[in-house]
Amino acid sequence: MLHHIDHPLISAELTCLRDPDCPSHEFRQRVRRIASLMVPAVTADLERTVVPCQTPLEITSGESVARPIILVPILRAGLGFLDGFLDLIPHAAVAHIGLARNEKTLLPESYYLRHPTELAEADLILLDPMLATGGSAVQAITTLMEAGAKRIRFASLLAAPEGIAAMDAAHPHVPVFTAAIDRCLNDKGYILPGLGDAGDRLFGTI
Ligand code: PRP
Ligand code: URA
Repeated sequence: MLHHIDHPLISAELTCLRDPDCPSHEFRQRVRRIASLMVPAVTADLERTVVPCQTPLEITSGESVARPIILVPILRAGLGFLDGFLDLIPHAAVAHIGLARNEKTLLPESYYLRHPTELAEADLILLDPMLATGGSAVQAITTLMEAGAKRIRFASLLAAPEGIAAMDAAHPHVPVFTAAIDRCLNDKGYILPGLGDAGDRLFGTI
């Protein structure tokens, strides 16, 4: 289930991100702003619950989000998305999943996992700016489901058709939100036209 979040403000930020001369501090701010701009679309169908609401004048009914929200950045680049989501969902818990692509095989290798004990009752939002081969997102979702998660959605900045197809094959019921769909992958698994290595650009490790 693919949702392309096509918005002029996001598109303008993304154009600046693609520029190799965009420095790390500016890159981080732009990724954070894009993340915040994506939040309404990513969360629009979260279940609501009716709650009593006391105003200064009377009691009426209000709404709250039905389930706890857990944000799950895939390390490292997912951290770039985290603050923009937390800015708008400050009560969310945060789980971390560490995956790094093996540069030769392009397969993700797991190195860290820490999450709240109770995943089954929560809505999880998996965060990673880059959906390239899809290996990392597919493995992260499999890991979270094995740990008990039942409701997962995935938010990315750039998606390649190869990654979208891999997600659809492995986890067809997981909604995928992306700000842009790029052309293809190169022979090193990088997204074209892309923006390079998101983790390196976020954290200045080029
Ligand atoms: C990048 C990116 C994704 C992954 C996407 O991470 O942040 O997690 O590659 O590629 P895939 O769809 O082909 O799996 P990387 O493994 O380079 O680690 P990093 O974030 O620590 O740089
Ligand atoms: N990971 C990145 O950071 N960039 C790509 O283009 C592909 C995977």
